[in-house]
Amino acid sequence: MAKIIDGKLISAKEREIIAEETATLKNSGITPGLAVIIVGEDPASKVYVRNKEKSCIEVGFNSWVIRMPEETKEEELLAKIDDLNADSEVDGILVQLPLPKHIDEKKVIAAICPQKDVDAFHLENTGRIMVGDYKYLPCTPAGIMTMLEHENIDVCGKECVVVGRSNIVGKPMAMLLLNKSGTVTVCHSRTKDLAEVTRRADILVVAVGRAEFITGDMIKPGAVVIDVGINRCEDGKLRGDVHFESAEKTASAITPVPGGVGPMTITTLLKNTLTAAKARAEKSLN
Ligand code: GUN
Repeated sequence: MAKIIDGKLISAKEREIIAEETATLKNSGITPGLAVIIVGEDPASKVYVRNKEKSCIEVGFNSWVIRMPEETKEEELLAKIDDLNADSEVDGILVQLPLPKHIDEKKVIAAICPQKDVDAFHLENTGRIMVGDYKYLPCTPAGIMTMLEHENIDVCGKECVVVGRSNIVGKPMAMLLLNKSGTVTVCHSRTKDLAEVTRRADILVVAVGRAEFITGDMIKPGAVVIDVGINRCEDGKLRGDVHFESAEKTASAITPVPGGVGPMTITTLLKNTLTAAKARAEKSLN
């Protein structure tokens, strides 16, 4: 039976350190601050934003949530981002995705000042990840790397397979594993004989957004399995992209859903915001 990688526990440890560093920074007159913009009423987005707000407050950050109606015009959103870019109390800006269809997501991300882009979605920050010279790492992939470190799982020389090629998870995940000298394969919906590829993986990361898409027979015995999916099923339960019951019989370690990757994503967001606040503190000294 696989070891369960407890994302909640690892997150709690990481957040303790963040809270300590925040207290020190506050003593020097700087309170890290994150502004989150949500446009519209998407129920999942509302839950995510509430969790981000709660997590900020718990570690001692300032937290601002700007709620804008579904019919908000693109220029109104861009003007709000401009205000936050200019606000010296705001260290990080996050625009919750997805946005309503009439708003151009790319334009919105490009409007965020790269130094405040704690999601690491701005082209400057994604480019920096490509060359391994980054200030911020994208929250979910970096959270996964932190989990692997906590579990003493060395990536160097391992066969790493990422299932899913999204800009938010799959692609940057592949880059971070490659930066740690993993041998990386990225699979997607057009991959021929997916199981043949996933069975090669020493480290398998699954981010496809389809409940229980990867089953135990697609996993190499002893593999480490990281499940990024959070799918609300018809019975009301949350399930990952991996069929947990069959996978845990084959894997050596596996992340549960919920309580695996999810908490680590917000922890990275807090880390990035703290990094931005530290940069502000340094600037104020100069
Ligand atoms: N929607 C789903 N995941 C994310 C994320 O990591 N950042 C933002 N901004 N929106 C999201």
